[in-house]
Amino acid sequence: MENKMRFSLINIILALITVFVLFGCSDLKNNIPTTPQLNVHQPGFTSPSSPNFHGNVIKANNYDMRQCRQCHASDYSGGTTGQSCKSCHVQPNGPEACNTCHGNFSDTTGTFIAPPRDLNGDTSTTIAGVGAHFNHLYGDSLSSNVQCAECHTVPQSVYSPGHINPGLPAQVNMKDIATTNIASNAAYDYKSMTCSNTYCHGNFSYSISNAQPGDQFAFIDSVMVGNNKTVTWNKVDGSQAACGSCHDLPPKGHIGYQQFPLSSCVSCHWTVVDAQGNIINKAKHINGNVNVRSN
Ligand code: HEC
Ligand code: HEC
Ligand code: HEC
Ligand code: HEC
Ligand code: HEC
Ligand code: HEC
Repeated sequence: MENKMRFSLINIILALITVFVLFGCSDLKNNIPTTPQLNVHQPGFTSPSSPNFHGNVIKANNYDMRQCRQCHASDYSGGTTGQSCKSCHVQPNGPEACNTCHGNFSDTTGTFIAPPRDLNGDTSTTIAGVGAHFNHLYGDSLSSNVQCAECHTVPQSVYSPGHINPGLPAQVNMKDIATTNIASNAAYDYKSMTCSNTYCHGNFSYSISNAQPGDQFAFIDSVMVGNNKTVTWNKVDGSQAACGSCHDLPPKGHIGYQQFPLSSCVSCHWTVVDAQGNIINKAKHINGNVNVRSN
């Protein structure tokens, strides 16, 4: 009895399914639009001057591109849309390249990832987002040791925690060479746009007791100290990077203070400077170490 009822129930269900397959689904099929692409995106989506430009849409969504991956594939290669982001964003990781949102957008080598072009598109050095980035990172004649990590926590990838927080300003966290020696109190002040107490700008103290015995003759005091300059981030006129600003020539506490000319440094610091006082090895200047004689 029970078995029979179950059998006829199954028959009814099978019959219903057949009806759906024959009629219902073919109706559904006819309702599928033949041009599903229409109206997916607003007009102007690929035109940078339009308010509907996709860059603006993503920015307004706190830079979240993960929604785009739903249709354009997780590697942005296009998926079912047939439109790869990488046709325009040509670097290996497509729009997640580090110069997509800040830095030089047209640089395909991935070198110029810091502003200029800040997040608002600004390129003027008087704007906080631009400031002295270029001079520290790409146009630096004094040192090759200044990297993003001196001033920021650097994300591994675009969605690493701590990278994109809602709204500006960006986080400035000084570390490494910026905070070495006696400079653990190095800090950036957002209001005045000034950096103070950084090792790089002369917050250092080298002491005679730590010097090699053969180098102690160079001290006329117990320590040699820099000028610990407070510098303004958006004042980019060369004055704050002039020879003699971060430390005197030679520094206070150094033999020949206010007597040795710039042309003399080469006789002891020949791995760092030449006879004209140019820095000849940028890796050895502002590196956190004493470099004298062959060292
Ligand atoms: C619901 C699926 C879907 C989502 C989500 C989606 N897209 Fe698309 N996108 C498409 C389809 C389909 C096309 C191709 C047809 C067209 O141009 O509308 C396309 C085309 C494009 C094009 C080329 C448009 C043109 O006019 O040539 C760009 C650029 C683009 N998408 C960027 C994005 C970005 C950026 C996001 C995330 C903010 C995104 N898409 C999210 C489906 C989607
Ligand atoms: C989708 C856009 C986008 C991409 C791609 C992107 N960034 Fe950013 N980046 C931002 C935004 C927005 C901020 C400012 C965040 C804030 O205000 O905290 C920022 C800030 C930064 C900062 C300043 C410190 C901070 O976190 O605020 C560094 C350094 C940085 N990005 C490095 C990178 C690197 C390295 C990559 C590639 C791995 C990258 N960015 C890719 C949007 C992006
Ligand atoms: C037709 C070419 C083209 C396609 C396709 C394209 N982009 Fe773009 N995208 C651009 C250009 C050009 C810019 C930079 C405009 C500018 O700032 O000058 C840009 C800018 C961006 C920005 C920067 C936003 C900002 O203002 O900081 C993001 C993020 C981005 N695209 C993501 C995507 C994603 C995700 C896709 C695919 C779903 C995609 N793009 C597809 C051309 C394209
Ligand atoms: C010498 C210190 C220093 C170095 C090195 C440095 N930055 Fe910055 N960065 C800053 C300061 C200061 C700000 C501005 C904070 C503010 O808004 O007042 C800033 C802001 C930014 C912003 C936000 C831009 C905006 O639109 O507001 C980004 C993005 C950024 N930096 C990326 C980088 C990247 C990427 C690198 C390395 C390639 C780098 N920075 C190296 C000091 C530095
Ligand atoms: C932005 C700040 C700054 C400026 C500008 C600067 N210096 Fe230095 N200089 C330093 C710091 C910091 C040290 C401490 C040692 C180190 O880390 O290299 C130093 C050390 C030196 C030394 C000792 C050798 C060494 O590196 O240990 C010489 C020589 C020197 N500087 C010469 C110059 C000359 C010449 C100029 C101008 C072309 C100059 N400095 C401009 C920051 C600066
Ligand atoms: C007669 C050799 C001699 C001359 C000339 C000389 N220095 Fe030095 N300098 C030294 C010695 C030795 C030290 C001590 C290094 C230590 O702490 O062990 C030193 C230390 C320094 C320091 C601090 C520690 C470091 O290495 O950063 C600076 C900065 C510096 N000199 C800059 C200069 C500058 C600029 C000139 C040229 C105006 C100059 N020196 C000329 C021998 C010399």
